[in-house]
Amino acid sequence: SEIRNWLKKYAMPYQELMSCYRCALMEVETKFNVLNEELSLRYDRNPIETVKSRLKSPESIFDKAIRKGIPLTVESIEKNLNDIAGVRVICSHPADIYKLSEAFLRQDDITLLERKDYIANPKPNGYRSLHLIVETPIFLHDQKRLMKVEVQFRTISMDWWASLEHKIRYKKNLPEMEYVERELYECAEISAQLDARMEKLQKIAAQATEGKDRALSS
Ligand code: GTP
Ligand code: MG
Repeated sequence: SEIRNWLKKYAMPYQELMSCYRCALMEVETKFNVLNEELSLRYDRNPIETVKSRLKSPESIFDKAIRKGIPLTVESIEKNLNDIAGVRVICSHPADIYKLSEAFLRQDDITLLERKDYIANPKPNGYRSLHLIVETPIFLHDQKRLMKVEVQFRTISMDWWASLEHKIRYKKNLPEMEYVERELYECAEISAQLDARMEKLQKIAAQATEGKDRALSS
């Protein structure tokens, strides 16, 4: 009910802000669909498996604002929360993550605010992903607004681990926490090894194709 009162108080400005974040999600999602279209034609394979986006729910926004001790106003949540709009780019291989994130950051309307490379430096629990906080413009009928978007890049295997880890962690009453944490960490390491092995196979396959194309054209 506390949150219902809050939503009622800020109804219009809150809806407007969320609408701007939805527009920002469309802009960023489109950028990745464009990159995927171009790169699949050039390399004859899709570097992106899927692009997903989500808007943080009012409940999560409210909880996070309270947790971080920031004022509960619409201006304050826009200023202080970086992950109201989130895009997840699931790639085939780790190298695709760097190629795509660099191509994205080179675009002249994208401003990088923060970059966390949990692939080069995984979290102590084993979590791997590349996180960017960027600012992207949206063009409304009478103004341009800069909106913050969190972009998470993962391989299928990183995403698989993170999704299951999330579900397991949020199940309460785990009696043998130490065992669970050790196992999760080990599974993360195995998933990183699988990424490396699959990427190597992809490179071998790409080189074989190149060789065949060269033989055909000479
Ligand atoms: P938050 O307050 O959670 O946003 O932390 P932060 O601002 O320090 O951000 P960070 O970049 O570390 O993580 C942001 C998001 O990445 C989270 O909201 C999750 O979606 C994801 N994430 C980070 N760590 C983990 C993890 O250990 N496991 C899983 N499954 N997801 C994680
Ligand atoms: Mg965050």
